[in-house]
Amino acid sequence: MVTTETAETHVYPVLWQQDHVLIIDQTKLPQDYTMVAISRCEDMLTAINSRLVRGGPALGMAAAYGLYLGARDIQTDDRAAFLERLEAIAEQLKGSRPDKANLLWCLDSMVKVAQDSGGTVAELQTKLLATAQEIQRQDWDICRAIGRYGLAALPDTPEKLTLYTHCNHGALATSGYGTSLGVIRTAWQAGRLEQVIAGETRPWLQGSRLTAWECVQEGIPVTVVTDSMAAYCMQQGWIHGVLVGADRIAANGDTVNKIGTYPLALAAKAQGVPFLVAASLATVDFSLPNAQGVAIAQGNVADVYQIGGTQMCPPGVGAFHPLADITPAKLITAIVTEKGAIAPADLANYASQQP
Ligand code: MRU
Repeated sequence: MVTTETAETHVYPVLWQQDHVLIIDQTKLPQDYTMVAISRCEDMLTAINSRLVRGGPALGMAAAYGLYLGARDIQTDDRAAFLERLEAIAEQLKGSRPDKANLLWCLDSMVKVAQDSGGTVAELQTKLLATAQEIQRQDWDICRAIGRYGLAALPDTPEKLTLYTHCNHGALATSGYGTSLGVIRTAWQAGRLEQVIAGETRPWLQGSRLTAWECVQEGIPVTVVTDSMAAYCMQQGWIHGVLVGADRIAANGDTVNKIGTYPLALAAKAQGVPFLVAASLATVDFSLPNAQGVAIAQGNVADVYQIGGTQMCPPGVGAFHPLADITPAKLITAIVTEKGAIAPADLANYASQQP
């Protein structure tokens, strides 16, 4: 991997450049805006595992380009041998973040394109790059549509909106616009936004480090709060809507998302605040009737007992780091997709409309 400084202002977390991928190193934000050039599948795996790139759709794109880079290095003219190796690389990439429905979906789509296409190995390699680029292009359109439907689903208030968001589901987590932060961006561009309240999102601080950074880049007024302040903000009547993303959504609307999402939904329900999940239909696992019993991936426990490398509790204490929690569908006002804002009870009707 090669690290370079750039002065680029528009935020594209994953960018194809002639023969390599550039990704923003999200571990360094907001202090440093650094891009890393990746030319080999192994380096993409390392980047994903080290969380340089994160957020379901951005991970999906990174993995898709990673698979192409791996495919480019397969040394055979034999189509069957090529496909066998390609499937093995896809499985390896899937293992890097199996909790992200988008990543799994992108890799399955890439493999299917190769399996279904005729032609030589060289032609399949070219087709895989085109598919990764198309996935990225489609994500932009999907996020724009989510932005429009999400704004329409928010209360039509005389005053401008104050919206609460958790984690980062913005440009950095997608092709460059965002899902839940895409709704907020759309509200800002439409002149309907007063400000964003960004929950800091302990322990990895995606809200304070990344969402707040994105808002500042664009001049969107943003206030950071600790996660423990969210219910208070809602109780004060300051919040017109809570917007979150999703790692995986079950067919009944149960939503697996960043740890801390479920308590926000509980508080929103108690305070009568609309709670919107913004995600593409590719995030919905229609084969999963509900999310009860979904295994939750565990993160590094040092993220919990340390902040910025400083120990925050006495030596010898236990620590626990579930990366996600499950928000039951009954707490969700609507799931905002590229096909519209859908009540959880109606979600299953959209199974045939996945991209
Ligand atoms: O662990 P992260 O930072 O990748 O978590 C991101 C999320 O929780 C998401 O909601 C998600 O993957 C969707 S991002 C548009």
